[in-house]
Amino acid sequence: MSNKPLEGIKIIDFTHVQAGPACTQMLAWFGADVIKVERPGSGDVTRNQLRDIPDADALYFTMLNSNKRSLTLDTKKAEGKEVLTRLIKESDVLVENFGPGALDRMGFSWENIKALNPKMIVASVKGFSDGHHYDDLKVYENVAQCAGGAASTTGFWDGPPTISAAALGDSNTGMHLAIGILTAIIGRQQTGKGQKVAVSMQDSVLNLCRVKLRDQQRLDRVGYLEEYPQYPHGTFSDVVPRGGNAGGGGQPGWVLKCKGWETDPNAYIYFTIQGHAWAPICRAIGKEQWIDDPDYNTAEARQPHIFDIFGKIEEWLADKTKYEAVDILRKFDIPCAPVLTMKELANDESLRKSGSIVEVDHKVRGKYLTVGSPIKFSDLKPEIKASPLLGEHTADVLAELGYSREQVAQMQESGAV
Ligand code: COA
Repeated sequence: MSNKPLEGIKIIDFTHVQAGPACTQMLAWFGADVIKVERPGSGDVTRNQLRDIPDADALYFTMLNSNKRSLTLDTKKAEGKEVLTRLIKESDVLVENFGPGALDRMGFSWENIKALNPKMIVASVKGFSDGHHYDDLKVYENVAQCAGGAASTTGFWDGPPTISAAALGDSNTGMHLAIGILTAIIGRQQTGKGQKVAVSMQDSVLNLCRVKLRDQQRLDRVGYLEEYPQYPHGTFSDVVPRGGNAGGGGQPGWVLKCKGWETDPNAYIYFTIQGHAWAPICRAIGKEQWIDDPDYNTAEARQPHIFDIFGKIEEWLADKTKYEAVDILRKFDIPCAPVLTMKELANDESLRKSGSIVEVDHKVRGKYLTVGSPIKFSDLKPEIKASPLLGEHTADVLAELGYSREQVAQMQESGAV
């Protein structure tokens, strides 16, 4: 039987755009009752951003807000504040990712919330952590990637700092926040008290750039980085350079061309030269003579001519598609994968089967694809449901809070909900 471990946890989801919504969406999949609080009339800006169907919530919204309920509330109006106050008294967690100080200006500082409900966990995403010299800045994804060290270390050495397509600043921060919230929930079981949990986008990016801080210290000490393409023929400055498609660990790797690369921009595989797999690599690509050749048989010997080696592997790949190449290399236990497009991923049967990509039916837009839970449990199979329409659950939530129909109608009239 599938149980939902977060059932019974009530979350006020005061989040918008991507970082906060990614966090609360995941908690909703695992059973929490997530009430998304949105401004009447407009709601989360992503409902309208990059729409592909004129009157339907944009995919940007639907893919980050599944399994939630939507409550419209103007928290700058007195009645709105009163509703939020009641909600705080009955909830376990409040998650927000407003600009710095917005919650305080609304009258719901951490101290005020704690006074209303000492068990409350208040979880926030900001661009920079409290007390940082940039803590007054509003921040979006790419800003965080630049501030957290990802941009200066991504891309090619002869190009500008580069942004990753993966949401290192947004969804990644949301995942960090989810870990923080769950930790605070367990902490509360021990102490009976809530607490404030804060995650900054800069810190979350930096956490994923840990190996680049490793490299900075190695560079400071020895003046070069032996696994970077700049070694041994190029030069190093005193900062970690952009390493193109080099592997970040001790295993050299590169994106290599396969059959059809001249016309297909994604006819590539990622190929890794794992140290102990050198002999299988040589056998796989028909270069047995390299196995014991002192110019090839150690990582140190290979590095000065690593790109010639990659070139020879590309010659072997020239008559193989990326799929054929991986099917051969997997038999030799070589870590590799085809470079997959979003179209290929959307149609990948294995991802559909595992629930990593799911089709959801939405009241207005019909069927659409979304990314399901990347976390798999033996006793929980998250069921991904459609995102709510703006204010779809306002009446239900207000009734649960004890408001009469007349009071709800009055608040609708005044624009408070
Ligand atoms: N009722 C009434 N007012 C509401 C409301 C509601 N339901 N929801 C939001 N508001 C108000 C806020 O109180 C705030 O008012 P104030 O600034 O006058 O006090 C106002 O809306 C604007 O909120 P803000 O979050 O600052 O929006 P923004 O569009 O100017 O900025 C971000 C957007 C994302 C840049 C900013 O929220 C931010 O930096 N967030 C933290 C980092 C982050 O999460 N970035 C995005 C990652 S996807």
